[in-house]
Amino acid sequence: APGGGRASGAAGHAVEGPGEATGEVTAPPLATTARVTGRRSLAPGIVATTLEAPEIAAAAAPLQFVQVRLPAGGGGYGSVPGRPFLGRPFSIYDADAGSGRLTIVYRVVGPGTEILAGLEPGATVELLGPLGRPVPVVPSRPGAPPALAGPLWLVAWSWKVAVFRLLAVRALAAGIPVTVLLAAEGEAARVLAADWAPLVPPAPGARPGEPPGLDPGEVGGHLAIVPPAQLPSFLAAALDRDDTGGNGMSGVTDPSLDGAAGFATTGAGSQRPRLFAAGPRPFLQQVQRIVRKHPVDAFLVVDAYMPCGYGACLGCAVPVRDGAGTRYVRACREGRWFAAGEVIL
Ligand SMILES: Cc1cc2nc3c(=O)[nH]c(=O)nc-3n(C[C@H](O)[C@H](O)[C@H](O)COP(=O)(O)OP(=O)(O)OC[C@H]3O[C@@H](n4cnc5c(N)ncnc54)[C@H](O)[C@@H]3O)c2cc1C
Ligand code: FES
Repeated sequence: APGGGRASGAAGHAVEGPGEATGEVTAPPLATTARVTGRRSLAPGIVATTLEAPEIAAAAAPLQFVQVRLPAGGGGYGSVPGRPFLGRPFSIYDADAGSGRLTIVYRVVGPGTEILAGLEPGATVELLGPLGRPVPVVPSRPGAPPALAGPLWLVAWSWKVAVFRLLAVRALAAGIPVTVLLAAEGEAARVLAADWAPLVPPAPGARPGEPPGLDPGEVGGHLAIVPPAQLPSFLAAALDRDDTGGNGMSGVTDPSLDGAAGFATTGAGSQRPRLFAAGPRPFLQQVQRIVRKHPVDAFLVVDAYMPCGYGACLGCAVPVRDGAGTRYVRACREGRWFAAGEVIL
């Protein structure tokens, strides 16, 4: 539907429900022509593109994504060598209803992302979204408590943390404490620290005016960036610390993990934490093993190959195991975030 409108192919798959309050897909996605309004390089091979798409920006919720179809060129679809036919899925990094703009942050890995990264302001793409199950953050009705109660832990592998940006922003706005734990080192760690430190709150007792976690490996406030090899032990130590209410740190044998002691306790209170993790499959498997031993509601972001993005093609099926046995569900509709105890990786 050029220029805006609901995507007809998705309409039959809409699930009725209270939407962001329960984390169900409630409306078919919108299809629109979006104008590129900004493009900047964040790090080598990492690009942020901002698009003008007022309806999608207004409807976007945490952990949702868009499918981007790239310009066809003079000869129609496929006329550009290597031009991707399918839309390319990208997390909504930021969305602002006021300006009508949304931003995606991506790594340039192939023909689609290469073309996208080359688009100057003024160019247009075809956009479908918002897609996927939103994470419930906002109250279901005025005055109701936030649907996402309890402190939030966001655990990610390097730039995969872009998935969580909108969730962090909305959770903080709703007064929910946010703790961010990133696996990164070198240049990536430095750039990610600069990107996230202004957003996550400093720990109580942090020196006023000093943003936390600016140095790779430094632990401060609610942001910690640790080398990837250390992340599993760091996470396990931090969860151990949280379980004990801040009185101890059982199971920590590596003295280099001392920082985990100060990491997990701020703002946690007595509410059960919710943990979301995003990263490559082996990383998610590690997180899955760790959270099994702790009283935390954990969810994993599973980015299967998504040809359509809205539930029609079944190309994104992921196995889950629950009380009813093992079954396949669509990552783009019933996911893309799954209970860590149910999804089979
Ligand atoms: C829900 C979702 C959200 C995503 N969000 C982001 C993001 O915010 N930032 C980011 O850098 N990347 C994101 N990705 C991955 C991104 O979609 C791929 O990197 C991109 O499609 C690559 O396209 P390409 O033409 O440049 O490369 P290609 O050479 O076509 O593909 C390179 C690799 O990208 C993956 N890929 C390609 N097409 C798809 C597809 N339709 N669905 C899933 N994976 C695909 C495959 O693993 C493939 O091997 C997301 C993927 C999914 C499923
Ligand atoms: S991507 Fe087509 S059904 Fe999920």
